[in-house]
Amino acid sequence: MQRNSTAEVRQQFLDFYAQKGHEIVPSSSLIPGNDKTLLFTNAGMVQFKDLFLGEEKRSYTRAVSSQRCLRAGGKHNDLENVGYTARHHTFFEMLGNFSFGDYFKTEAIHYGWEFLTQVLKLPAEKLLVTVYAEDDEAAKIWAEEIGVPADRIIRIGDKPGKRYESDNFWAMGDTGPCGPCSEIFYDHGEHIWGGPPGSPEEDGDRYIEIWNIVFMQYERFPDGEIKPLPNPSIDTGMGLERLCAILQNGHSNYDIDLFQYIIKKVAEMTGVTDLENASLKVIADHIRACSFLILDGVVPSNEGRGYVLRRIIRRAARHGHKLGLEGAFFYKLVQSLVDQMGEAYPDLAAEQKNIETILKKEEIRFGETLDKGMKLLSAEMDEVAEGGVLSGEVIFKLYDTFGFPFDLTADIAREKGLSIDDAGFEAAMEKQKETARAAGKFGTDYTAKLDVDGETDFTGYDSVTGQGSKVIGLFVEGEAVESITEGQTASVVLDTTPFYAESGGQIGDNGQLLAADIAFVVKDTQKQGDVFIHQGELAQGTLAIGDTVETEVNEERRQAIVLNHSGTHLLHEALREVLGEHVQQKGSLVTEDRLRFDFAHGEAVTAGQIAQIETLVNDEIRKNSSTESEITNMDRAKEKGAMALFGEKYGDEVRVLTIGFSTELCGGVHVQRSGDIGLLKVISEGGVAAGVRRIEAVTGANALAWLDDREAQLLRVAATVKSSPQDASEKVAQLFDKSKQLEKELDQLKAKLASQAGNDLASSAIEINGIKVLAANLEGADPKSLRDTVDQLKNKLGKAAVIIATVQGDKVSLVAGVTKAETGTIKAGELLAHVAKQIDGKGGGRPDMAQGGGNNPAALPEALDSVVNWVKERT
Ligand code: ALA
Repeated sequence: MQRNSTAEVRQQFLDFYAQKGHEIVPSSSLIPGNDKTLLFTNAGMVQFKDLFLGEEKRSYTRAVSSQRCLRAGGKHNDLENVGYTARHHTFFEMLGNFSFGDYFKTEAIHYGWEFLTQVLKLPAEKLLVTVYAEDDEAAKIWAEEIGVPADRIIRIGDKPGKRYESDNFWAMGDTGPCGPCSEIFYDHGEHIWGGPPGSPEEDGDRYIEIWNIVFMQYERFPDGEIKPLPNPSIDTGMGLERLCAILQNGHSNYDIDLFQYIIKKVAEMTGVTDLENASLKVIADHIRACSFLILDGVVPSNEGRGYVLRRIIRRAARHGHKLGLEGAFFYKLVQSLVDQMGEAYPDLAAEQKNIETILKKEEIRFGETLDKGMKLLSAEMDEVAEGGVLSGEVIFKLYDTFGFPFDLTADIAREKGLSIDDAGFEAAMEKQKETARAAGKFGTDYTAKLDVDGETDFTGYDSVTGQGSKVIGLFVEGEAVESITEGQTASVVLDTTPFYAESGGQIGDNGQLLAADIAFVVKDTQKQGDVFIHQGELAQGTLAIGDTVETEVNEERRQAIVLNHSGTHLLHEALREVLGEHVQQKGSLVTEDRLRFDFAHGEAVTAGQIAQIETLVNDEIRKNSSTESEITNMDRAKEKGAMALFGEKYGDEVRVLTIGFSTELCGGVHVQRSGDIGLLKVISEGGVAAGVRRIEAVTGANALAWLDDREAQLLRVAATVKSSPQDASEKVAQLFDKSKQLEKELDQLKAKLASQAGNDLASSAIEINGIKVLAANLEGADPKSLRDTVDQLKNKLGKAAVIIATVQGDKVSLVAGVTKAETGTIKAGELLAHVAKQIDGKGGGRPDMAQGGGNNPAALPEALDSVVNWVKERT
């Protein structure tokens, strides 16, 4: 094995911990086996979660692994950054050692340090560590046992106001094992911009976290409560790629042997000579993620994990296209991955053919539309001015017609400096789902699988309960069964039912099916042809074909749905009266909470029109006319002027429903009298697609609750501005004007003060051998402004050496500056170091400008006083 190669480092890590009594545990799958809350394995500890919680025991209490991880899709999503930064990956390997109630902080820290400094021989002075602010124990071990100098042990606390939210408190997710942690950082050197952890420049690339040692001590529960674990444990994680980047004297992870090998293969394929090309990196990263996902059983699809895989493959294909590759190419890179990782992952080599076949198929599939989609996208992008926004409809069209995942289009738009209308895209997506819903549920996989004879008689127009319904079909996961037992999830078909099955926008009922010692909880009702399917779970007993059950719809929920459905009809008619006959229904969703109605109309509905519409609807409600329904034929329905949906299929018999001034064809369940609706209130209006608007409204008790909530908000505003509800808006406007005025004055004053302070400071400089020396604490100054102040002072003073400090809490920020000609005798970095070391801090920079800080404000005055003598000694 090549020295410091990825393969060697991985092996060294495993061997080191094996010698320390750790069991070498193979990497688990990218698909977490024991955790439904996680899309992908994103850390080494995932496969050990139950051991930490004390819910599982194994023959060992110490383990070591090199775990494959994926951070794409789901909570941790780095996909869009891949290729453009030095350290983001979709797929990476995490080296980790684990103790399950065995050793704790002392050994974890000693082992980690030993491995880095003795085995890998990283220079100790290049390493610094962080500890959780309250963790004195860990800080002490680092300082006293390991001997890390105090200025390289950084304490990091909670984010303001957020208990246990900290870079040094690690949690697997919202629930589960968690605890304080200590991180080891590597200093890539002065030539790279960035500051140590906790400093304002921490996001720079100079100090890179390489190892996270988590002291697993607690378990977090869904209500946020934290309880101690049965045994304090250890979980660590070190990115193999970034560690290798350091060992191989590189800065970017993409410089390491493994990536360089794959990048060169892609470069050969494309003829690209610049190995820094982002597309090469994207492809090299993505071949790893895709190959391992397929190895772990994921195939490209349109949902869940399969869609994440599809997105990554398509992103790689697009970057290949960008480099001029035609046809399928990506699958050919599996070989180079096997060359690099096949030894550590023998399964990868064994599955090579299968992985290639699946990748190739998906590439060919996407290849058919990629070119056309790119042409359309280029044309559309040309239409948008620089820095403009690409419309949601275009993104949707690319998605729907050309299979361009949203993030793929976003990626391309970003390269052109355009931003993305995600709200518009979401709306277009929603619209399509709506249309699919309106077109009936008959085609969904769930019901299509059921093979049922017979039909269901619907009795729910007049009642919400029934007796003597016979079970004529039972299905578990789409397969017909004779009976089901307690705890099983199933679909139940009855010969008669009052449960309304979702259709025409009205959602399905829920409730219960009951018999002596039997209770089936119905969570949803769907329809397949004339058959009603009650989906849910058997909570008690055994239910078999032929059994007779009582039916009980959740009445309160049904009633709320009914009010919204009848409200929808009145709203539809009112829209036509106010906006015009062109208003055609484009989609409808009626739930217990609200109603949503999409319709054809070219422009936004004004507030005045909405008020008119509400008045018309509520007038009809108060007329309290009774609802009439008639089963008839289509001709007669037309005669009655019933509104029908364009494109909808109707049978020979139709149901004509009249509520107040509305007459529509509808199979839904409705109020007996219009007055039952009580009140209708429009709560939103907006556009969903070109020429389609959406209105949402609430009815009955929900409408009153909505108004109550608004009123309460108004009362709160009034109380806050000390006014009555009637005068509140006027008062807010006045306050707003006043605060603008005050902000303006404040800005002017600040500017004045700053220039004053600069003058005052300049005059307090002391001249030593022709150099103006100034060391001052600028109380209350913003640390970010120090550099500017130092620059100004240098200009003002001519020949000068200046150091300025400002204190915030326990933190001192320092900036030192020396005029160019004087840097031969005095270096800003040294001046800074001289002061910093007296206040438990550090810093560095160029000879003419240096930056740093410290943690001991009490020592600052003396430190600043010492500057004059210090300069004297040098001049
Ligand atoms: N589980 C810890 C992490 O992911 C080590 O950083």
